[in-house]
Amino acid sequence: MKFFLDTANFEEIKEAYGWGVIAGVTTNPSLVSKEGNIDFYARVKEIADYVQGPTSAEATSMEKDVLLKQALEIAALSPNIVVKIPCYPDGLGVVKELSKKGIKTNVTLIFSANQAVLAAAAGATYVSPFVGRLDDISEDGIRLIEDVKEAFIMGGNDTKIIAASLRHPAHVLACAKAGADYGTVPFKVLKQLFNHPLTAKGIDQFNADWAKFLAAK
Ligand code: E4P
Repeated sequence: MKFFLDTANFEEIKEAYGWGVIAGVTTNPSLVSKEGNIDFYARVKEIADYVQGPTSAEATSMEKDVLLKQALEIAALSPNIVVKIPCYPDGLGVVKELSKKGIKTNVTLIFSANQAVLAAAAGATYVSPFVGRLDDISEDGIRLIEDVKEAFIMGGNDTKIIAASLRHPAHVLACAKAGADYGTVPFKVLKQLFNHPLTAKGIDQFNADWAKFLAAK
């Protein structure tokens, strides 16, 4: 499984990129609004140009024509842009139009395998099943990833699965084992993935022994 960083915070993106494990970035309107009074288009372009990898940015209108116009404006910002479109009937109609133009799409707010299959049928490049939000309502988010994976294998389609709404390291591992192509993780969760007390203890020990070796020279 590859990783996307789920954030609109540029400092987090720069730091995580230095760690060599991030293939791209996903944003949503809530993540962008957390950044305060910023220009949405300017921030998305800044991120897409920096990461040089897939950068998902969401079009939001419930009117099909407006949604398509927004999607085209977002796509024009950078060749790295992936336009995020919510999963509803006109949204998938727009996904079809965008796919005919060669524009990459990420169908978001996926909560059932049927929604993922529909999005793939419309030509989505990626689908984003939301794990944590299903767990929040006592449903099984990981089961959703397993179901989408099985359906996509059986259907033989190329649409990639981004496991989204990941809240902790156990979610990440379960999604990797379930065959998600990507996991999109908040900065805090990405940092948690590196942690192990024996790694920290081992680093301290090796550094202390190396310092003794240098002192004895
Ligand atoms: C990413 O594409 C999703 O919008 C994001 O992972 C949702 O996460 P949340 O459910 O924690 O808001």
